[in-house]
Amino acid sequence: MKKPKGTKDILGKEILIYNHIFKTFSFLALAYNFKQIITPTFEEAALFKKEIGKEAEVIKKELYEFKDKANRLIALKPEGTASVARAYLEEKLYAAKNNQKLFYIDSMFRYESPQKGRLREFFQIGVEIFSTEFFNKIELIQLSLSFLRKIKISDFVLKINFISSPEIRNIYKKQLIKYFKKNIELLSDQQKEKINTNPFRILDEKNINESLIKNAPKISEFYDERSEKEFQEIIKTLDSLEIEYQIDPFLVRGLDYYTDFVFEFVSTSPHLGAKTTIIGGGEYSNLLNDERLSGVGFAVGVERLVEIIKTNINIKENLIDAYFIFETKEMFFDNLVLINDLRKLGITVEFNKKIKSFNKLFQDAVKVNPKYLIFKEKDNYNKDDWTVKGADFKKILPIKNVIKLLKLEKSQYNETN
Ligand code: HAM
Repeated sequence: MKKPKGTKDILGKEILIYNHIFKTFSFLALAYNFKQIITPTFEEAALFKKEIGKEAEVIKKELYEFKDKANRLIALKPEGTASVARAYLEEKLYAAKNNQKLFYIDSMFRYESPQKGRLREFFQIGVEIFSTEFFNKIELIQLSLSFLRKIKISDFVLKINFISSPEIRNIYKKQLIKYFKKNIELLSDQQKEKINTNPFRILDEKNINESLIKNAPKISEFYDERSEKEFQEIIKTLDSLEIEYQIDPFLVRGLDYYTDFVFEFVSTSPHLGAKTTIIGGGEYSNLLNDERLSGVGFAVGVERLVEIIKTNINIKENLIDAYFIFETKEMFFDNLVLINDLRKLGITVEFNKKIKSFNKLFQDAVKVNPKYLIFKEKDNYNKDDWTVKGADFKKILPIKNVIKLLKLEKSQYNETN
């Protein structure tokens, strides 16, 4: 049996990188006063259709949808925002002011054509702030930047755009449709299909005539006073914080709930395909037709980060701190409590589970590469003297000193990691 297409087993060195990413993000998110939430892996399919929009690729082509045994239409979650919004209402999180900022680390599912950094099951780290205060937008950009810096990713461009209100987007949409119809001969059959249903998606097509996009009408040509003012305020603040960005007038994002400010961190790393988005987010208003569900958020594609950092990062695998060799069953029984106590202190302990000749046991132990091998030499069987063998020393110590040594080693290791 093999794993399903577009999924992966995460293990070995890679899982250390995943955990490093999760830990780094959680550490920062807590510092920004976010609280973690875990929502179900599946929801009623209607939730996503309503929030993400029927014309979005995520819904039209990529949703994992099925009927359960009671004939309910269920979907595996393709993203986190809709689920977190549902939970925010259902769990009445709005009742406490300190519950507006939520983060999640979850598996998401999209029926996509798999390639590097694009899977059918993938991890997202996401945040949502259910509040429309101006500074939240800036805070999310700062959080993204601190996070990327902390995991040592520097090859990226921050792209921003202001896609304004639904009314203005409608005016813009009509102009775009007109423009694409006028230039229809430059579009592929697939692109032609999108003209009436989702012309915005043509703007971020990869295989498209460049000058057609360059000369397309831009949403900024249709801004009202509010849009102009709000976008300028964001730009000014980013400038004053010396945050580098590019205004991308054609950044539209693929999910229907976005409004006003949107952004993407696009990787320029040679380890990913050209221009791959590693973080995408923006503002939304009235999710689930509820004004309390207005705010801003983003999600990080974890597999994409792993691809970027895995060749340069060196995370130490957890070594066995102490490997005990017991030559008799009695020694094993006498020391069970001791081993349990050491493990409770976080010291990684292993020991032989079978009785063999000392030489064989020693060879087995060396193979697992412990920091210390601990055993009794024949003459010391009945004494409290244990031989402790490290990479460059050998000592005979009473057990309480062995414990002291292991504790000291562990605390020094924890301090430097
Ligand atoms: P999204 O742009 O659809 O936004 O996804 C966010 C990120 O998830 C992408 O930039 C990408 O890094 C990663 N991603 C998406 N699809 C895949 C895939 N098939 N394989 C691997 N990684 C993938 C959202 O999902 C929004 N919910 C973000 C958001 C939160 N906006 C506001 N709040």
